[in-house]
Amino acid sequence: MNRQIYILNGPNLNLLGQREPEIYGHETLTDVELRCAAIAGPRGVQIRLLQSNHEGQLIDWIHEARHAACGIVINPAAFTHTSVAILDALNAFEGPVIEVHISNVHKREAFRHHSYVSARAEGVIAGLGIEGYEAATRRVLTLVGA
Ligand code: DQA
Repeated sequence: MNRQIYILNGPNLNLLGQREPEIYGHETLTDVELRCAAIAGPRGVQIRLLQSNHEGQLIDWIHEARHAACGIVINPAAFTHTSVAILDALNAFEGPVIEVHISNVHKREAFRHHSYVSARAEGVIAGLGIEGYEAATRRVLTLVGA
């Protein structure tokens, strides 16, 4: 088994901690990485946290994960609601996929209520803030038996 979990983040999440903090909080992607590494590390699994504002880059990382990762945690951000291409890429990945949203998308605008990625994900977490990434990491570890 590849002892690595990819945590993929879509557009604008590079601004996490600065962007709309009343919705997304004050913590950053570095905080997410540290928290998840603290969970996975003791189980001998590394975290590779990546962020891109470009759909194709996210797809390339999902392809890379096919040979490098035992599971994927993904917050596709706005691509959640638009991207069949990211869904197709995830369908080509064999391990568990957990979808994370920092905010509760179901409490927000109607256009955020539909996710293409949910059709592939083993689990969907929304509204737990960045704790959602920790829960998702734990779930991947459980599913792969690490
Ligand atoms: C988000 C929710 C999306 O609707 C939004 O476009 C984001 C972030 C979240 O984490 O709550 O950029 O995925």
